[in-house]
Amino acid sequence: MSRVLDQYKRASKSLAGGVSSSTRVNQALGHPLYFDRAEGCRVWDLDGRSYIDLCCSHGATLLGHGNERVRRAVAGAMARGAACSYESELHAELAALLCDTVPCLERVRFTGSGTEATMHCLRLARAITGRTKLLRFEGNFHGYHDQVMYAARQLGRFAPPLVPQSTGVTPGLDAHLVQIPYNDVEMLNRAFDEHGNELAAAICEPIYYNAGCILPELEFINTLRKRTRDSGTLLVFDEVLSAFRMCAGGAQQHLQITPDLCTLGKSVGGGFPLSVFGGRADLMEHLMPQGDCQHSGTYNAHPVAIAASLAAVQSYREPEFYPHIHAVGDRLYEGLNDLFHRHGVAGQTRGLGARFGIYFGIEGDIRNYADAQRHNRQQMLQFIGAAINEGVYFHDYGGAACHHGFCAAMTLEDVDEALTRLDRAVGRLAAG
Ligand SMILES: Cc1ncc(COP(=O)(O)O)c(C=O)c1O
Repeated sequence: MSRVLDQYKRASKSLAGGVSSSTRVNQALGHPLYFDRAEGCRVWDLDGRSYIDLCCSHGATLLGHGNERVRRAVAGAMARGAACSYESELHAELAALLCDTVPCLERVRFTGSGTEATMHCLRLARAITGRTKLLRFEGNFHGYHDQVMYAARQLGRFAPPLVPQSTGVTPGLDAHLVQIPYNDVEMLNRAFDEHGNELAAAICEPIYYNAGCILPELEFINTLRKRTRDSGTLLVFDEVLSAFRMCAGGAQQHLQITPDLCTLGKSVGGGFPLSVFGGRADLMEHLMPQGDCQHSGTYNAHPVAIAASLAAVQSYREPEFYPHIHAVGDRLYEGLNDLFHRHGVAGQTRGLGARFGIYFGIEGDIRNYADAQRHNRQQMLQFIGAAINEGVYFHDYGGAACHHGFCAAMTLEDVDEALTRLDRAVGRLAAG
């Protein structure tokens, strides 16, 4: 038996479901990827097989695995004793750097995960406005706390009952949600006409990467900004996945729309557990100790993660960083689409910056969750299985169309190698 399968069997005796995180089982493989080591854009599994990694820790390792600058920063933090629950000069340095980099940030707070960041941010919005309702968009993903666990499609309606994505979610929370399709200006206006004065916040993925890569249409995002401002609703951009993906200021810089509050996650930690929520100073001052809204935690802003983040954000601000990201992205996305075309496979790749989606079997535009759901999941699983067989790792998150991505350690030569391998994988797909 392979070491990978042996390990999965052993893990299942003590880890629930054999994994530490439910979506870590890659459905195309039937087990998780057991990595032995990782370096740059490559991972090696326990059986010694190497893969070009197009998952990149679900987007957390944007610099690549084992990045030297991050490694040095982490070693420095460890050498100083890594005492947590205290502040250091690095905390303020990182906060200042983020405020200088991301348009809406005047004040920030650090937490450990994207889930915590959206949870605290939405609580803050409720504390500030004294309102309870939230506007959210079908399929947009905001983590695992109860209030946001309602992504399921509710065709043509935005009233409760909505379908929770898990059993055990506190009953009745959907009464506080107004949920509409992404990119639907008519529904957006209706939602504000009927509920505008009850909404504490409107939260969205400003680039909807969780369904691959769906861009907000200009009229939609402009209307969202205007209607939130006019109704006293706080606009929250959840940039856990989009932060630093296409430019240092994230989706808000790319779209030139400044929200009131935002969250950052994944890549902000340079591969270490750190997330951020922040925004206008007058809003953030509602947090204790000045204000009356609570946000605290023993491991918040762990010094190792802060040091890693500082190294990562400094790297993202280097002048050559994004030209390289876009050169790699262009080569990879065009190359993939060319492969699908040449082999007569109905697949399309859409990407912006370092993250992308691949959709099989969808004709026409993809503007929202319902459109993305029309993808041919069976073909996606076959593609991912064939790609992994050829040494290119894509993750399958289960269910809807999913997101993939590359890291800055990937060179144009690595892209060409990946495309050569994927040529064989798509050829196999085409042959049935
Ligand atoms: C947009 C968005 N928000 C929140 C989260 C939750 O982040 P985490 O998995 O770090 O809790 C994710 C994770 O994929 C995400 O993509």
